[in-house]
This record gives sequence, structure tokens and C-alpha cells, in this order.
Amino acid sequence: MSKPRVVLVVGTRPDAIKTLPVVIALRNDPSFETILVSTGQHREMLQQVFDTFGVQPDRDLELMKHGQSLGELTGRMSLALDELFKELKPQFVLAQGDTTTTFVAGLSAFYHQIPFGHVEAGLRTHNVFDPFPEEFNRQAVGLFATHHYAPTELSASNLRREHVSDEKIFITGNTGIDAVLMVAEREPQTWFPDHKGRVVLMTMHRRENWGEPMTACAKAARQLIDEHEDTLLAVPMHRNPIVREVLEKELGNHPRIHLIEPPEYARFTKLIQRSNLILTDSGGVQEEAPSFGIPILVLRNTTERPEGVDAGCATLIGTDPAALLTHGRELLNDPSRYAAMSQVKSPYGEGKASQQIVEAIRNYFA
Ligand code: UD1
Ligand code: UDP
Repeated sequence: MSKPRVVLVVGTRPDAIKTLPVVIALRNDPSFETILVSTGQHREMLQQVFDTFGVQPDRDLELMKHGQSLGELTGRMSLALDELFKELKPQFVLAQGDTTTTFVAGLSAFYHQIPFGHVEAGLRTHNVFDPFPEEFNRQAVGLFATHHYAPTELSASNLRREHVSDEKIFITGNTGIDAVLMVAEREPQTWFPDHKGRVVLMTMHRRENWGEPMTACAKAARQLIDEHEDTLLAVPMHRNPIVREVLEKELGNHPRIHLIEPPEYARFTKLIQRSNLILTDSGGVQEEAPSFGIPILVLRNTTERPEGVDAGCATLIGTDPAALLTHGRELLNDPSRYAAMSQVKSPYGEGKASQQIVEAIRNYFA
């Protein structure tokens, strides 16, 4: 009997970070034929992750264009994946999370009536416009997935509320934790050897924060750094020119603010570990930082990852600059609040999610 052909589709940086541990686990099981497809929704930021894990895609659709709109990216990707699925005839398709790549991979699998496994399933804000368009993408693939790999009990309960039957839900932990633990101790700590003080790490890229919210947060972060002379602000800039323009304008030309190119994943993980405080609108960073006990202020109005907020390792502060300053000052000056946030156990898993996903697929074909 031929081996089941499992196709995993990635396109963005977080897709690859959270999917490659599953690819590695599947490739260790000779009973599967594992094919990694890249849509190339991202380019440099995605290639960095393939290089970090030493895994290259078997097929690359190379779709990224500068300034791509959601509609045209979705259209081009849909055509390309339709052709590829006709050729490859996968028996199972997997994708993670909430990106355009995930949505279109799911939709294409649905049109071809191929079973679809959703990695990082069940995260919800219940506001389809926030995060935009990610909440829609996640909910949409949840309508037809054959397997939902929920990272936590809360995400599983969201799925049950949407009448997903129990036998389709697998609570696995988040594969992003598998990834971060794979690379965490790979390199020595080399960040800012001449800086003896504290490091604040900031990343922002989300569509709903483009423009005014990002400008306001950047200004407030600059003020926070000005007020605390022992601090340094590290700002890895997403490659999107819309994001970079704001960050360069508001945070440039400051002796203690480092605007840097996005470090590759193992080095970025070292930067998280070197940090004392994180300001971010990233999904993945919200999950990774608690593994290292670093408090997070979430620069968003909603989060589909309330587990960290409920556990106490993250605070959802929105994008009001006054809130950023209030919470930032408190964390930099109040040791008891800092200790309370940094001593929380991560709610996102212990790094064994990929194995559990492979086990679920094995049982599916048994
Ligand atoms: C996408 C995801 C978002 C995820 C983010 C991770 C969607 C709708 N959004 O948003 O959920 O949080 O990735 O980073 O899928 N660019 C480059 N090089 C790269 C990557 C991007 O130059 O390696 C530039 C290009 O000009 C591109 C633009 O960034 O057109 C935007 O990329 P896109 O994937 O459309 O959106 P993101 O904001 O990255
Ligand atoms: N990341 C990275 N280099 C960077 C910034 C982020 O490797 O300069 C990693 C980060 O550790 C996390 C992932 O990229 O695993 C998150 O990507 P991003 O914030 O772009 O997307 P999101 O998680 O918000 O969808």
C-alpha cells in the first residue's frame, strides 16, 4: 500500500515557525510521504525560518509582491494551489493559524475535498474585524477542518461552542513552543554586550495598528526610554514598508533606540531572553515570551490569546499612548508588579505539540 501523502502549506514567517516542527516530526515517521509547500506570501522573512530549521520547501510558489492587497494575494494563491493540489493529489493537508496562506490552503483543500488539519485551531476574539483579516481566516477554516489541533483547553472550548465534535478536537499545546524550545539554547547570548542596563523589545506590524495607533505607540515608547536612562529599546522592523516608515520616523536618531532588521528566529529568541520587558502586537511573541518569564504589554484592543492575560504574564493595554506609559513605568519601577508578571508558568504548552499532531494523523490513516 502506498504511503499517505501529507502536504503542509506555509507562506509567512509565523506559518513556518509553527509548522516546521510538525514537518520534522512527520519526516521522522517513514509511514508518511511529507511534502512542504511554500506559497511564498513572505520572502526574506520566510527564507530565514527555512534556514534556521534547515528545512527547505519541496515546492515554492514565490507569490510575494510588494504592496500585495489581500484580494489579489488570495486570488493568485487560490489559482496556484488549485493547480498544485490537482498535480500532487494530497491525502491530507495541514496549515497553521490565521494567515492568507492558511485560509487559501484550507479553502483549496475543501474544494478538492481533501481532509484538512488546522494547527493552532480555536483561537478567537469573536470580533471578525479584529484582528483583521486573521479572525475571519481562523473561523473560516474551522468550518470544514477534519482535525482541529487546539493549543489549549480554552481554544478547544471555543470550538465545542461552535459545535465541532469532540473526536475532531485534539488539545496539543502550541507548536510555536516546540519551535522556540528547539532553538532557545542553540546560540550564545550576544545581544548588546556593552549595555549593562535593561532592554525593552518592541515589535508592531498588525494591519489594524497601521497609521495612527502605531505612531502613538512609537512616540510613547520613545518617551518611556527617555525617562529611564538605563534602558535600551530594540525594535526589529517587519519588512513591510508601511510599518517601517512609521518606526523609522518616530524612533530614529536616538542613542538608546536600535532599529534593526528582523533577526532570524534563533537570534530573535535570544533577544527575547535578553529583554526585560516586551511591547508587542505579535501573536507568536505573546506565546513565546512567557516561556522565558518576560512580561508582555500587548499593543492591541483584543487578543485571541487571553490565556496569557488570564495567567498574568501579559497585559492587554490597547494602543493608547497614556496606557503604554502607565504600564511601562509601573513595570520598570515597581518590582512587585514585575515579579508577579515574570513568575507565571507559560499556559501555551511544553513543546510536545508536534508529536501529538503526528499521532492524530497516524490514527486517522490507521
Ligand atoms: C502577514 C499575515 C499576518 C501575520 C504576518 C506575520 C495575512 C493576511 N497577514 O501579514 O497575520 O501576523 O504576516 O509577519 O496573512 N514583505 C517583504 N518581505 C517579507 C515579508 C513581507 O518585503 O519577507 C513586505 C512586502 O512588501 C509585502 C508586505 O510586507 O507585500 C506585506 O506582507 P503580507 O504577507 O501581505 O502581510 P503581513 O503584514 O506580513
Ligand atoms: N520573529 C522573528 N524575528 C523577528 C520578529 C519575530 O523570528 O524579528 C518571530 C517570533 O519569535 C514569532 C514570529 O516571528 O515566532 C512572529 O511573527 P510575527 O510577529 O511577524 O507574526 P504573528 O505571530 O503576529 O502572526
